[in-house]
Amino acid sequence: MSLFQIDESKCKRDGFCVSDCPSGLIRMKNKESFPTSIEGAEEICIKCGHCVAVCPTEAITLNFLSPQDCGPMSKDFLPSEGQTSYLMRSRRSIRRYKDKPVDRSAIMDLISVASHAPSGHNSQPVNWLVIDKKNDIKDLAAIVVDWMKFTLTAQPELAAAMHFDRVIAAWEKGEDRVLRGAPTLVTAHAPSSLPPSQAACTIALTYMELYAASKGLGACWAGYYNAAANFFDPMKKALALPPGHVTFGALMIGYPRNHYHRIPTRIQPRIIWR
Ligand SMILES: Cc1cc2nc3c(=O)[nH]c(=O)nc-3n(C[C@H](O)[C@H](O)[C@H](O)COP(=O)(O)O)c2cc1C
Repeated sequence: MSLFQIDESKCKRDGFCVSDCPSGLIRMKNKESFPTSIEGAEEICIKCGHCVAVCPTEAITLNFLSPQDCGPMSKDFLPSEGQTSYLMRSRRSIRRYKDKPVDRSAIMDLISVASHAPSGHNSQPVNWLVIDKKNDIKDLAAIVVDWMKFTLTAQPELAAAMHFDRVIAAWEKGEDRVLRGAPTLVTAHAPSSLPPSQAACTIALTYMELYAASKGLGACWAGYYNAAANFFDPMKKALALPPGHVTFGALMIGYPRNHYHRIPTRIQPRIIWR
């Protein structure tokens, strides 16, 4: 079966699909000929859909994607440069949440947008674990605290550098500085055997954090939890991820209780220009 079909009544032979294919899988013999795929294209294609997206006349249909399957594109949908810059600069790590659950449809929307994040070879390895029962999240925070206590003796230098003693002391006084009482915890996990997994999960979560801010939701990376999920057997057991999967990052998500009135500065960028 061919990788794609060309509707010759629509194809203008403009060569956009040829020039845009990242793997050089589409050829035109000359300016008059219609695009064809090279031999073995099906095995090499990374299924990015660029050829379908770049064709102005809907002339190309991949065997897994038609122009009608795709979302519309319009410059009118883009936020302005100033709005985008403000969103990215004003996003904060949100650690105080309203006592209000986040609807699953809102989380679905976050995941759906985050799935448009880039991934190496378009491998899209990210899987999601969503926990939105407060008691379950608290139980996981307790396991993280157990990991911190274990680390105090097993790796005292690490525990000291990360001030685990302070997190444990707060927990014992009833304050959760691990998962912060968040109503939802979203974990990105993926096969550890796939090289793109770490970057893909990190980028998808970054998309999610920014998009959450635009929706009036607050998020914070759950770094302690993610470390425990990677290094502490009781946490691995509690999460019960599919075989071969590891967590590559997680976000606490909820409605922000506090509002910010200014944007702190960052350190000067360290740049080498050549
Ligand atoms: C990978 C990663 C892990 C993080 N883990 C935690 C965490 O476990 N708990 C927490 O309160 N903040 C965590 N943060 C948030 C950082 O502390 C925060 O990004 C930083 O202080 C800058 O503040 P801002 O995000 O509000 O600009 C983490 C951030 C990243 C990128």
